[in-house]
Amino acid sequence: MKIVVFTGAGVSAESGLGTFRDADGLWEKYRVEDVCTHEAWLRNPELCVEFYNARRRDTLTAQPNAAHFAITKLQENFPDTEIITQNIDDLHERAGSHNITHLHGEITKLRSNIDETDTVPCMGDQHYGDRHPDGSLLRPYIVFFGEGVPYFPRACQIASTADILIVVGTSLNVYPAASLLEYAPDTAKIYVVDPGKPEFGHFRYRVEHIQKKASEGVPELVDMLCKS
Ligand code: APR
Repeated sequence: MKIVVFTGAGVSAESGLGTFRDADGLWEKYRVEDVCTHEAWLRNPELCVEFYNARRRDTLTAQPNAAHFAITKLQENFPDTEIITQNIDDLHERAGSHNITHLHGEITKLRSNIDETDTVPCMGDQHYGDRHPDGSLLRPYIVFFGEGVPYFPRACQIASTADILIVVGTSLNVYPAASLLEYAPDTAKIYVVDPGKPEFGHFRYRVEHIQKKASEGVPELVDMLCKS
């Protein structure tokens, strides 16, 4: 049984990390075009570094919640389980999960300004101006809006092998990530755990929507799958 779990900001909401598009979400407090676009990085890189330093501080003080741990339990019961996340936090890793593809980067790493996948660890504040061993300016390892998503082809390939796809806590607003559901086989069962109303599009006829918070809905679903 191949299970693929696709997560968004909602899986980490109960760990205290804000989502982006909910009321009071991060994009209510900051303008995407100031801190998270390719142009922002060219125009005011110091502001981008400052914004992601704050995200890193938040991440490092947050703890995985019951949803992250339930996904680890799922992986223990179904060892082929793979996780695809839009999140830049490391809470899946700290909950003990593995086989994780981060589509939008990782806050605990910085990357070369030349090679988008050449990273170095960063567990504190980034000092703007520091350089990668290749000589280029280090930048947060974040896929900004307007940039390519290097691991998307890999994520599509993984989704295409799913017998079960579990989607947790994403509004399905951001592409190409949101189109991942299209790559699941027609025969795959799709569960969505989200207390809100993600943009299902034509998938609304096909998904089983568990309209609960991740910390409640994911452990229940995992228990059900482990018993079946
Ligand atoms: N449990 C589960 N889901 C929740 C919870 C919760 N406790 N709280 C909120 N949610 C849901 C919301 O209902 C919403 O559908 O999480 C989703 C959050 O949506 P977004 O804020 O749009 O986050 P996400 O879909 O992950 O954003 C995608 O946008 O700006 C970017 O790069 C950033 O990776 C991010 C991408």
